[in-house]
Amino acid sequence: MPNTTADKLVIFDTTLRDGEQSPGASMTKDEKIRIARQLEKLGVDVIEAGFAAASPGDADAIQSIAKIIKTSTVCSLARAMERDVRAAGEAIKPAKSGRIHTFIATSPIHMEKKLRMQPDQVVEAAIKAIKLALEYTDNVEFSAEDAVRSEMDFLVRVFDAAIQAGAKTLNVPDTVGYSIPALWGERIQQLIARVPNSNKVIWSTHCHNDLGMASANSLAAVMNGARQVECTINGLGERAGNASLEEIVMAVKTRRDVFSCDSRIDTTQIVPTSKLVSSITGYPVQPNKAIVGANAFAHESGIHQDGVLKHRETYEIMRAEDVGWSTNKLSLGKLSGRNAFRTRLQELGIVLENEEAVNAAFARFKDLADRKQEIFDEDLQALVSEGVVAQVSEHYHLVSMRAHSETGILPKAQVVMSVGGQEHSAEMSGGGPVDATFKAIEQIVHSGTELQLYSVNNITSGTDAQGEVTVRLAKGGRIVNGLGADTDIVVASAKAYLNALNKLDTGAERAHPQV
Ligand code: KIV
Ligand code: ZN
Repeated sequence: MPNTTADKLVIFDTTLRDGEQSPGASMTKDEKIRIARQLEKLGVDVIEAGFAAASPGDADAIQSIAKIIKTSTVCSLARAMERDVRAAGEAIKPAKSGRIHTFIATSPIHMEKKLRMQPDQVVEAAIKAIKLALEYTDNVEFSAEDAVRSEMDFLVRVFDAAIQAGAKTLNVPDTVGYSIPALWGERIQQLIARVPNSNKVIWSTHCHNDLGMASANSLAAVMNGARQVECTINGLGERAGNASLEEIVMAVKTRRDVFSCDSRIDTTQIVPTSKLVSSITGYPVQPNKAIVGANAFAHESGIHQDGVLKHRETYEIMRAEDVGWSTNKLSLGKLSGRNAFRTRLQELGIVLENEEAVNAAFARFKDLADRKQEIFDEDLQALVSEGVVAQVSEHYHLVSMRAHSETGILPKAQVVMSVGGQEHSAEMSGGGPVDATFKAIEQIVHSGTELQLYSVNNITSGTDAQGEVTVRLAKGGRIVNGLGADTDIVVASAKAYLNALNKLDTGAERAHPQV
C-alpha cells in the first residue's frame, strides 16, 4: 500500500541549487533572493536555496533567504560529511522553517569509483550525517544519489537506516536521467513496500532529464506513492536539467482523475516565475515548451482555431490564464511618478535594498519611458535585473557606442568603454552590427573568451519592445551568462557582453556538490 500522506504533494523547488548547476546559470545573492521571494509567492513548499559548503557566498545567500522567507521551508544541501552538514545547519538557522538535505551516493559505480568507500562505510556516513543534521533541525531529508543504478537490496538497507537515524523525507534520485516511467514507478513502489516503517516518512523523487523523461518519471513516482517531487522552474538543472515544476504541478492538477493528490501552488504565478528565472539566468524558454513556452497556448491550424473559437475545450486542456498567461499588463507610462513606480514594484514583489537603488531604478525607468510609450510589468522586471547587473562590480562599463549598417556596406561599430575606470575606444567592422560591436569590445579587452551562445528575446511584443540579450562566454573551464536589455538590440548586446565579462572577472571559485 503506497504511503499517501493525506493528498498533499510537496513541491520541493531546487532552481537555486540544482538549477544553478546549469552551465552559466550561477546567480548573485540578490538574484537568488528575488527568485526565492517569487517561489514563496508561487507557493512552493520547500526552497532548496543552495549548497552552503560550496563557498562562503553560497552560505551567505542561503542565510539571507532563510531570514526573509516565511511561508516556505528553506533548505540547504549537504554531502554526508561533518563540514557540509554544519555549514548547512548554520546557513538555515534563521529560517522560520529550515531543512537540511544530506546525501551520499549508493550505486556500485559511484561508491567504488567516486567515493572509494565500502557499502558499510556509506551506510555509516549517512547515519552520522542525519544524526548531526538533527542537532540543527528536526526536518532532515536524506537522498541516495544515483538510486537509479543502485542495487535494490542495498537501497532498502540505506533507507531503513536513514529512517532509524531520524530522516523525515527520503529522496530517490535518478541522478543520471536513465530511467523510464514504468521502471521508476515500480522502483518507488518496491521501496515503499520493502523499507520498514516506510509510512512514517515522505517519499520523494528527483529526476534528471537526460532522456527527456524527468517529468514523466516523477509523475510515475507520484502514482506509486511519492508525495514530494523535486523540480525546477523551466526544468533548469545539471546537464539536460530536472523535472519542470510547471509540468508536474499542471499534470497533477489537470489529471485529478488519475492523481490522488494535489499541490498548494498558486498556478497563476507560474508564468511570471518562469519569466523571472529565464531573465535572471539568461536561459531562454523554448517557444514550444509545455505550459510556459510562448506557443504553449497558440493555435496555428485553421481547424484548431475554429474549434477553440466555437468551444475552447475542443483543443485546450488548460486555461492560459490559470497558469499566469495574461495579456501583457500595462504597468506604467511616461507620466507615472516615483510613488506609482514604487507601488508597482511592491505589487510585483520586488524589494529594492535602499532609497539609492529605488532612485537608480526610477532613473532607468524614466529613460526607458522616453523611448517606449508603454511600460509593462516585464519591462520593470528587466529594469530591476539591469540594476542588479550593474551592481556586479563593473570593471568593464559601456560609456557610449555607435553602430552602422547599410545594404552593400560592411557593418561597423564604435565602442567607448571604461576598463577599471579608464576610458578606451575602438572601431571594428563585422558580419553585422552585433558582430562588429563584439569585435570592437574584444579589440579593447582581449579577453581570450569563447562566445558559446548569443540569443535575443523580446521582453514584450511590438517593435518598440526591449530586446533582452543573453551572451554566454567561456574561459578556463568557467562559463557565465551575461544579460542586457534595451530597446536597441545592438546596445543590449554590448551590455550583455560586458556583463558576462564582469561576471568572469568577479566570480569566486565554488565547490560542486557532486564532484
Ligand atoms: O541528482 C542528484 O542526485 C542530486 C542529489 C544531490 C539529490 O542532485
Ligand atoms: Zn540533481
